[in-house]
Amino acid sequence: MPVTKFSVPEKYTYLSGFGGYHQSEAIPGALPIGINSPQLPPFSLSTERISGTSFTAPRSQNLQTWLYLVHPSLSHSDFSPLPSSYRSPSILSSDEEFHLTPNALRWNDFPITPNQDWISSQKIIAKSGSPAKKEGLAYMIYAASESMPPQTIFSSSDSDYLIIPQSGTLDIHTELGHLLVRQNEICVIPRGIRYRVSLPNGPARGYICELYQGHFQLPELGPIGSCSLANVRDFQIPTAYFEGSISNGVATCEREAWTVVTKLAGKLWQCSQAHTPFDIAAWHGTYYPYKYDLGRFSAIGSISFDHPDPSISTVLTAPSHREPGTAVVDFAIFPPRWLVMEGTYRPPYFHRNSISEFAGVVINSQEEESVWNKGEGFGPFGATLNGAMVSHGMDRRTHEQARKQELRPEKVGMEGFTMFLLESERMMGVSGWALEAAGEGGSKGPISGALKDQEKAKL
Ligand SMILES: [Fe+2]
Repeated sequence: MPVTKFSVPEKYTYLSGFGGYHQSEAIPGALPIGINSPQLPPFSLSTERISGTSFTAPRSQNLQTWLYLVHPSLSHSDFSPLPSSYRSPSILSSDEEFHLTPNALRWNDFPITPNQDWISSQKIIAKSGSPAKKEGLAYMIYAASESMPPQTIFSSSDSDYLIIPQSGTLDIHTELGHLLVRQNEICVIPRGIRYRVSLPNGPARGYICELYQGHFQLPELGPIGSCSLANVRDFQIPTAYFEGSISNGVATCEREAWTVVTKLAGKLWQCSQAHTPFDIAAWHGTYYPYKYDLGRFSAIGSISFDHPDPSISTVLTAPSHREPGTAVVDFAIFPPRWLVMEGTYRPPYFHRNSISEFAGVVINSQEEESVWNKGEGFGPFGATLNGAMVSHGMDRRTHEQARKQELRPEKVGMEGFTMFLLESERMMGVSGWALEAAGEGGSKGPISGALKDQEKAKL
């Protein structure tokens, strides 16, 4: 089967199908039938709705979910700014100056702050736009060595989080159910959905694309037809999880103190509540988190000559509608695949693009990671950022080899190796710490030299 050989076994069950109307009951009979907001829902639950789009958004884009829970989520204290002692100095700063540069940027290995959790380890690399204006996006890293503190839950009012693990496993308990997200899987947590992240197998690190504007969707397939790339059925949605009980036909849960952390306009706030946030007995709708195994991606390529554009490798997209075909961001991947083009320069040709390109690598085993650490200065937790109209391409040695190589069919990439690319129409400003941490040369430098032997990816 074309699925990733995960070293960490799955432990949850899921619903399947991107964008579908789903429903799930942790308690049989908890979902009202035919009515969304009954006077008295089953088990004396309360009704709450979370909307991800305007009420009048077209059906194909309308995202709303009905929740049936013990305590409405408004049952909490006032929010106050999160104490700085709980977060690393560079986390999520919206005041930091962001820098535009015409230089290609490369990070061989992002610096890691020890003893951080999911919230405190998030550091912003680059940003364009504003969450308050619901415009643009940001790229971040996370590098957590600890689970979130007990009875603490997090959400972002700013953005959908596209989480791309580079290594390690995230056990994500969302309000709507559980997701186990391993290396070579990605997940999306929509804005406003509350969740708690623990680390069942030690440290975990990776990348986050924050989407301030709209939501992710599957790309249109055009002449490709009705399947391939990321297939609809391979997206997995959690099933309802309820931390309570039924007593005399009434749903209840223990009173206990929880801390709710919320990100708003890049700043962190917290409040307390006297009940578990996992008190949703059932839900139905279209607004939910999901995950996807990148090993299930059905790659499309040329079987004659030339390279298709890298848009052929798009997993998820967030259209901007500014001009036809433009996107706030496209998330594309380059998994192991065959190259068979005849008479063609096989590596990526030299190019300058109107969009900006942020690239990184997911490596699925520590063994392969160690191989990469012996490479030409490119660590697994690295990335490149080539801004608008920044020239990039292969190094001289790769270029010369490519011009004279025998063009046999060849498999490129390694098992468990996936390169990803986040392409945005927007110019990405780089944060101060990220600019300081970046090397020179971008993908003209050692990164492309290292990549060309293993991957020949389309950067
Ligand atoms: Fe490129």
